[in-house]
Amino acid sequence: MSSIVPVDLLAAATNPLYFESLVTTNTSDPSTIALLSYNDTFRNDVLGENATARRLHNLDWQAFHEMGTYNRKTNSIYVTSNYQSLDDPINVTIIDLDNDYAISSTRYADLHEPNGGTNWYPPNSAQDNSTTPPALLFCDEGDFDHYSGLVSVDPTTNASTPILNSILGRNFSSVNDVRQHPSTGDIWFTDAPYGFWQNFRPNTTIPSQVYRFEPSTGAIHVVADGFIASNGLEFSPDLKTLYVTDTGAQEVINGLNGTRPATIYAFDVVAQRRLENRRVFAWVADGFPDGIHTDTRGNVWAGCGDGVHVWNEEGALLGKVWIGVESNNFAFVPGGVLVFSNAQLWIVEGIKAVGREICRDFGVCE
Ligand SMILES: *[C@@H]1O[C@H](CO)[C@@H](O)[C@H](O)[C@H]1NC(C)=O
Ligand SMILES: *[C@@H]1O[C@H](CO)[C@@H](O)[C@H](O)[C@H]1NC(C)=O
Ligand SMILES: *[C@@H]1O[C@H](CO)[C@@H](O)[C@H](O)[C@H]1NC(C)=O
Ligand SMILES: *[C@@H]1O[C@H](CO)[C@@H](O)[C@H](O)[C@H]1NC(C)=O
Ligand SMILES: *[C@@H]1O[C@H](CO)[C@@H](O)[C@H](O)[C@H]1NC(C)=O
Ligand SMILES: *[C@@H]1O[C@H](CO)[C@@H](O)[C@H](O)[C@H]1NC(C)=O
Ligand SMILES: *[C@@H]1O[C@H](CO)[C@@H](O)[C@H](O)[C@H]1NC(C)=O
Ligand SMILES: *[C@@H]1O[C@H](CO)[C@@H](O)[C@H](O)[C@H]1NC(C)=O
Repeated sequence: MSSIVPVDLLAAATNPLYFESLVTTNTSDPSTIALLSYNDTFRNDVLGENATARRLHNLDWQAFHEMGTYNRKTNSIYVTSNYQSLDDPINVTIIDLDNDYAISSTRYADLHEPNGGTNWYPPNSAQDNSTTPPALLFCDEGDFDHYSGLVSVDPTTNASTPILNSILGRNFSSVNDVRQHPSTGDIWFTDAPYGFWQNFRPNTTIPSQVYRFEPSTGAIHVVADGFIASNGLEFSPDLKTLYVTDTGAQEVINGLNGTRPATIYAFDVVAQRRLENRRVFAWVADGFPDGIHTDTRGNVWAGCGDGVHVWNEEGALLGKVWIGVESNNFAFVPGGVLVFSNAQLWIVEGIKAVGREICRDFGVCE
């Protein structure tokens, strides 16, 4: 269980140590979540006064790292683990919503080091809340022997299909995260140097960029550059804004470098195809913003160094689901959100916020 803790921003403004005593945890064994309200909107409208949080799993390995994609036919959520070594590659953990969030881990053929992902509607299949189950689309970071790219997996047959593994003859670095545009079906994704930084890919040979791929024609476009490590990406619910996180502060080989970006950038999406008007949306004081999702009111949620942070669409910090350890991603479910902190899986239940893709993915519409 947990309670909502109000944050006094004026007290924090003149006391750099304010947050040190506000909430604490044992970072070797975090067992509670605090819901920190930086703005009354968080308590009243985002979470609601009766939201509660609990820990579902505490493992001796880091199963709960990235992705968090729901498949309706299996009624399960798919999560990718944190990279350990080439001998112990990233695997996929299936969270069974029919069975009290029971977990099992697996590996899929032709998927080497999976990271981010989303639901995948192949060309000419409508993206709606009908009963047709989509497949999963994984970002495969690749390794020394395998290309990085996008791979679809049908979780009912476990068959995998390569969708993209190069850009006009050049190699990606390590494709990181992906969204499918609900109207055009285009696949928007990021590519970052993490495979090289974590010693499982050759050095990068292209910039860290954001791409738009047309799966029906094969056409691919660079839509943004200028990142050290473009990472999480997400559309606003009206699809007019794209948010992209730059996790360049986390270089892995050199550790955390606080002078590099830990920043969410916002772009205008023009004609559903291009990006314009790059601007800073928010900077994160704790770690770096990794996986990112929006809710139906336009609030922006991101996994950060101490939990999940939530901003309104103006970029004002509304609150945090505070764990005290790093969260790289999370997944909305109807009435709640599953929060990943690598070895732990948490759930915040009884919330008012509704994830942008809840209606389409679960068929549960407001
Ligand atoms: C923190 O958790 C670790 C692992 O369970 C435990 O060994 C340690 O005693 C805990 N520290 C405190 C101060 O409780
Ligand atoms: C919260 O719980 C209390 C006590 O059960 C109840 O009276 C109240 O209506 C609830 N509030 C909301 C917003 O559900
Ligand atoms: C997934 O990875 C974990 C830790 O690296 C390991 O314990 C587990 O056996 C793996 N499962 C599969 C199916 O590969
Ligand atoms: C592209 O990636 C493949 C698979 O990892 C590798 O065999 C090949 O050498 C790479 N090519 C270049 C030019 O880096
Ligand atoms: C697919 O993989 C899952 C997880 O390992 C397994 O439970 C299931 O039986 C597999 N399905 C098929 C058709 O092989
Ligand atoms: C990797 O490539 C970058 C960009 O070309 C270069 O600056 C860096 O020195 C390279 N690192 C290594 C270890 O080769
Ligand atoms: C608090 O959040 C509300 C709703 O998003 C917003 O209108 C207001 O400006 C915020 N207050 C501050 C001080 O940021
Ligand atoms: C599908 O979504 C529409 C609105 O978007 C809703 O009216 C309808 O009830 C939903 N169908 C199902 C099966 O959830």
